[in-house]
Amino acid sequence: MRACTTPVSVAVGKRVTTIEAMSGTRTGRAVQAAWDGRTTVPQCGYCQSGQNHERLLRAAAANSSLADTDIDAAMSGNICRCGTYNQIRAAIKDAAGQLQKGA
Ligand code: FES
Repeated sequence: MRACTTPVSVAVGKRVTTIEAMSGTRTGRAVQAAWDGRTTVPQCGYCQSGQNHERLLRAAAANSSLADTDIDAAMSGNICRCGTYNQIRAAIKDAAGQLQKGA
C-alpha cells in the first residue's frame, strides 16, 4: 500500500507499519543502511514515504541478481521529482549484496 496515495481514512482500525519498523529485521536494516547510508537515495525527501515499500524492498533485497527492469517494475508508481532512480536501484542492489554476504 502506498502511503503517499492512501487516505488516512483507509487505515482506520488497521495496523500500520512505517519505514522505521524496518530496523527490526536484518533485511530492513540492510535496506536502511543502503538507502540512507552507503547510497544516499533521498534528495529532498518528498517521495520517500512512497518509495519505501517494505514488502517490495524486502523481496528485492533478498534477490541479488535483480535487473534494473525488475526493480523498476517493483517500484513503479512512485514518482521521484528529484530523479533518484539510479540511487534507488543502487541501494536495492547494495542491500541485496549485503544480505548475500551475511552482513
Ligand atoms: Fe525528492 Fe524523491 S527525493 S522527490
